[in-house]
Amino acid sequence: MTKAGANPRLRSALDGIPVYKPGKPAASVDGAPAYKISSNENPYPPLPGVLEAASEAARSFNRYPDMACAGLVAELANRFGVPETHIATGTGSVGVAQQLLQATAGPGDEVIYAWRSFEAYPIITQISGARSVRTPLTSGEVHDLDAMADAVTERTRLIFVCNPNNPTGTVVRRAELERFLDRVPGDVLVVLDEAYREFIRDADVPDGTELYRDRPNVCVLRTFSKAYGLAGLRVGFAIAHEPVAAALRKTAVPFGVSQLAQDAAVASLRSEEALFERVEALVAERTRVVEALQAQGWTVPETQANFVWLRLGDRTVDFAAACERAGVIVRPFPGEGIRATIGERAANDLFLQAAEAFRKEL
Ligand SMILES: Cc1ncc(COP(=O)(O)O)c(C=O)c1O
Repeated sequence: MTKAGANPRLRSALDGIPVYKPGKPAASVDGAPAYKISSNENPYPPLPGVLEAASEAARSFNRYPDMACAGLVAELANRFGVPETHIATGTGSVGVAQQLLQATAGPGDEVIYAWRSFEAYPIITQISGARSVRTPLTSGEVHDLDAMADAVTERTRLIFVCNPNNPTGTVVRRAELERFLDRVPGDVLVVLDEAYREFIRDADVPDGTELYRDRPNVCVLRTFSKAYGLAGLRVGFAIAHEPVAAALRKTAVPFGVSQLAQDAAVASLRSEEALFERVEALVAERTRVVEALQAQGWTVPETQANFVWLRLGDRTVDFAAACERAGVIVRPFPGEGIRATIGERAANDLFLQAAEAFRKEL
């Protein structure tokens, strides 16, 4: 018998928390091909060496993984030319972002981020008990860094700068980012979320792993989920000075990053040349998709990520439904716009056809 009237007390901070919406799976209609371009995943399967490393690791998943991720940390330290103590790993970069909040913010504190941006920011901020302070993107869909610096108070503990921004693909460039970092007080942590860094082709967008070097309050977030194609294995990392990196190690879920993920990540770093050829092909597809959309008459913000953003306002849901009928699942943000990942060529073609047909009906 269940005990009536005695529900466990849950933290009120969780009330009304937005639920993270994963991209819908693609469902084929009448056997026609269907593609999911709603989660910014890499369309390519793992490279051969990566698959073998993961399969090998799978042989011993009766054992716990290396909790320190020592092999991966050493590889990353070498790759970025930073001390091993400056690297902290986690279950995807969203896991690391949550650790950052646990390490910095709680009730009464404030966390600043642009909006719209990565939808996990409000969720993990609310879970921490801190208050979200959102600064609207500019009319060009770009972070308004002056407004973000103006929003800092003595309660601010953390600021997310998503570069390129999810879902708009827009970037902030060197001069404005350095000016912003100079304005933020040294006791406020600035997190440069660079989940899509490898897709950037604009030389004026700074690499956070350079910017962080003489700034102890800057933390760079990177992931193996996007360009490296390991989204399903859940591994990301931060590069930051002590004591931030040490705090991340304290707040990590013990044994959170599986040995499969660690070994696949190391193998990916060692196969970077082949991997970056694929990234280059996606960047070329991005150019093709953007130019085709522009030729159809759409306004497309300049994207440096593996996705495009169309601001559709109240036509967003209809557009997403039209894409779904055409065999591609895009990501709608009702009332605002849609985000479409650059996928395999066939998926991009279906998306472009759907966009063209929709445009003609406007
Ligand atoms: C900006 C940004 N940061 C972080 C993440 C989290 O990725 P993961 O947890 O797979 O590393 C995403 C995923 O979509 C993202 O768009």
